Amino acid sequence: MKQDWKPGTLIYPLPAAMISCGSNPDEYNIITLSWLGTICTNPPMCYISVRPERHSYNIIKKNMEFVINITTEELAHTTDWCGVRSGKDFNKFEEMKLTPGKASIVKAPIIEESPLSIECRVKEIMSLGSHDMFIADVVNVKADDKYIDKATGKFNLEDARPIAYSHGEYYKMGENIGHFGWSVKKK
Ligand SMILES: Cc1cc2nc3c(=O)[nH]c(=O)nc-3n(C[C@H](O)[C@H](O)[C@H](O)COP(=O)(O)O)c2cc1C
Repeated sequence: MKQDWKPGTLIYPLPAAMISCGSNPDEYNIITLSWLGTICTNPPMCYISVRPERHSYNIIKKNMEFVINITTEELAHTTDWCGVRSGKDFNKFEEMKLTPGKASIVKAPIIEESPLSIECRVKEIMSLGSHDMFIADVVNVKADDKYIDKATGKFNLEDARPIAYSHGEYYKMGENIGHFGWSVKKK
């Protein structure tokens, strides 16, 4: 039997990404977010939803830029820490021994330890209630060439062992069970 629950956002699993922001080292901060996603392929666009009370909120609003850094099993502990501690009280780069790297287009730093950093420029801010949604253009992507297959040029994100967040828990990725379109492929 199915139960009726009060309305809630239970779309899981989701990413748990580390968003880096700030335009100078004194301002640099990292916030862990799960309320984020892709909203358009061409032009490439994505969103993040941030509560106005977060320290990162004003930094992102002032600079209108941020970087989405994909997280990995190795970064799981750091990812959680950056989601329960505030930049008001800590320099998260220093505390977590993360390296702020130069992005190509935005002033916000990338996190060098992340395999994939997506540079974003905010286009619009929508106040929705508890969260404000920052709708952004992707202006550059920085990929660690450690995960690029020299022969094929393919970026193997799975080799970086990305993590997922589901209903309060973090998970490793499981085994591959098919690729795009495999369900209709002729044998
Ligand atoms: C897995 C995870 C997901 C989170 N997702 C969001 C989110 O989507 N939006 C948000 O405003 N806060 C989210 N948070 C909470 C912030 O990361 C947390 O309040 C953080 O301490 C804010 O940092 P700051 O004050 O330095 O900006 C999340 C935390 C965790 C651990």
